[in-house]
Amino acid sequence: VVALLVTACQAGGGGTIKVAVLAPMSGQVSTFGISTNNGVQLAVEEWNAKGGINGKKIETVVADSQCSADPAVNAANKVIQEDKVKFIIGEVCSSASIPVSEIAEANQVIQISPTSTNPQVTLNKDGSTKKYVFRACFIDPFQGTVMAKFALDKGYKTAFIMFDQGNDYVRGLAEYFEKAFTEAGGQVVGKESYTKTDTDFSAILTKVAESKAEVLFLPDYYPIVNLVGAQAKEKGVTAVMMGGDGWDSADLDLKAADGGFFSNHYSPEDPRPIVQSWVANYQKKYNAVPDALATLGYDAANLLFAAIEKAGTDDTTKVAEALASLQYEAVSGKITFDAQHNPVKNAVVLSVKDGKVSFSASVAP
Ligand code: PHE
Repeated sequence: VVALLVTACQAGGGGTIKVAVLAPMSGQVSTFGISTNNGVQLAVEEWNAKGGINGKKIETVVADSQCSADPAVNAANKVIQEDKVKFIIGEVCSSASIPVSEIAEANQVIQISPTSTNPQVTLNKDGSTKKYVFRACFIDPFQGTVMAKFALDKGYKTAFIMFDQGNDYVRGLAEYFEKAFTEAGGQVVGKESYTKTDTDFSAILTKVAESKAEVLFLPDYYPIVNLVGAQAKEKGVTAVMMGGDGWDSADLDLKAADGGFFSNHYSPEDPRPIVQSWVANYQKKYNAVPDALATLGYDAANLLFAAIEKAGTDDTTKVAEALASLQYEAVSGKITFDAQHNPVKNAVVLSVKDGKVSFSASVAP
């Protein structure tokens, strides 16, 4: 038996590959972290069930990085220095992923963010591409354009934009939407910022009502959408609310967001077989329909593992090269990376109506 085990180990290379998951596991946007980790863990189970990567079992270290810069930086330093990981999946939120990417790049640690859509994540300050940093999602200039075109196609010509000045994702997406909307003939009739601790939006919502804007663009995460949506309905604001992927949560208040639309990375209604078998597998394990976070967590993990396998080593320089040239059929679409390490793939627009989130449109880059 011992001899057999030794042979098996030698044949497979033995050992483990340690991967860190950085995500908000608690706090305001905890559904983001829980879903992301669920997706990653499902991919890890599947790879380990077929023997791991090049014979090495995958082991994860999960750190609660709270969707914000300071805890994410601490988590990144901890997993690199203490756990000695060479691979990070995360963070979810751009404001956390951007500072983590600096640390990953400096340490030659591979970072793949499943969901951080701000362009800065994969770029150095001089505009060149970070060698070790990738993502599994499209970026916000595309997402902003998708929603601008969607609004105009629906016949809406005026928009009011509300955004959190201190959030890289929210501020960026607001800006990209404004640019695309005005360039395509729309008019932004008002723009107001708030801070993440604000809970009373009545002063801004009065301005929204007075502006007679047809669209209220609110590209924030679901807790703010829930607050603003409820207060807007109370005030009788008639503008159609629109936003981005940050709305995606089992905790989105479907009453507050009723009548709204948001761009996202995937729809569980997509009939492609890869999507349907993913939804079924996920449901079996977690008893819930996977959201985009779970799906992109799964995709990001699979992309990373496929690249390590293709490189035939866990040397991160070689794995980065393997990732850059990888072609992979992921649940969220066929993925190849562009020169900035961003996947090129479709977005979907989802609608919130009568207590349900449903597929509304698919938009190609
Ligand atoms: N795109 C968001 C960001 O960059 C994160 C997010 C993605 C949130 C998908 C929800 C769903 O901060």
